Amino acid sequence: MNNNAASLKELLAFNQARTETTLDHWLPSETIAPKTLHKAMRYSVLDGGKRVRPFLVYSAGQALSVPPEQLDGPACAVELIHAYSLIHDDLPAMDDDDLRRGKPTCHKAFDDATAILAGDAIQALAFHVLAHDSKIQVNAETRLKMVDQLAIASGSRGMAGGQAIDLESMGKNIDLPALEIMHIHKTGALIRVSVMLGALSCANVTDKQLKDLDHYAKCIGLAFQIQDDILDVESDTETLGKTQGADMALNKPTYPALLGMDGAKTMANDLYQDALASIDSFDKNADPLRWMAEYIISRSY
Ligand code: IPE
Ligand code: IPE
Ligand code: MG
Ligand code: MG
Ligand code: MG
Repeated sequence: MNNNAASLKELLAFNQARTETTLDHWLPSETIAPKTLHKAMRYSVLDGGKRVRPFLVYSAGQALSVPPEQLDGPACAVELIHAYSLIHDDLPAMDDDDLRRGKPTCHKAFDDATAILAGDAIQALAFHVLAHDSKIQVNAETRLKMVDQLAIASGSRGMAGGQAIDLESMGKNIDLPALEIMHIHKTGALIRVSVMLGALSCANVTDKQLKDLDHYAKCIGLAFQIQDDILDVESDTETLGKTQGADMALNKPTYPALLGMDGAKTMANDLYQDALASIDSFDKNADPLRWMAEYIISRSY
């Protein structure tokens, strides 16, 4: 393991623990009614997932010297949106998956209605956290901007829109620009807003810094879904913690399907290089962003 990998591993573990504590704090206890709904919410959010999006919030904030406690709320909010998107993504009406993060999907462990409601409630909780968390230090105007950006990234012009394109494209031969639009929305939007929420947590962030970080985020957001498509082919169910081969089974358009495996890997690597170049002007406080860019295209699950 090289030094970067060792530092990334430690930092991943540190941020994962921090994220877990924050999520646990905000999620209602399963002893409170409606108990089954709260149980399903906690089941799907806690104890699983790589927590890449919180890591990006913390790392973008660190690149601009924002203390971690001011980033807990935004990190938690974006992970909640992500967790809700996975619950709905797995539903029979969508990808119809039985396994997620190494355990039965929410609708398998509970039922379809509970999974739909758990997703709804987790999404609402994300906005509550961002609007309410007293550790967030930005002024009210910036906080409103953060809420707005998270809403746009989650909605029809972001993740949900990308999911709609994904479902419409099943079994169709879409071209490369259409595939890119789908990936940028369904996965890229939440990755991009993670970096933005971290950056906006810095009161004196410049327009140039925001622009550079946003370009970095766009590149790694697309690379993230390309790698997800690659792993769907090359990895195995146990390592992934979700069913391998799910895309092929549903005839989903993917980068490996369109460009071939080598073409998909080359594209992910080009995006990684572009991401690094965009944050060239940042000092070593931005190293976690650099490590994460590499992790995104080299991860095995
Ligand atoms: C999986 O996301 C779904 C996509 C958007 C590609 P992750 O690979 O981040 O899933 P977890 O959170 O680690 O389970
Ligand atoms: C998921 O894409 C995107 C969102 C959940 C928004 P996938 O359908 O490829 O994700 P996995 O492979 O099931 O995790
Ligand atoms: Mg899907
Ligand atoms: Mg899926
Ligand atoms: Mg996938």
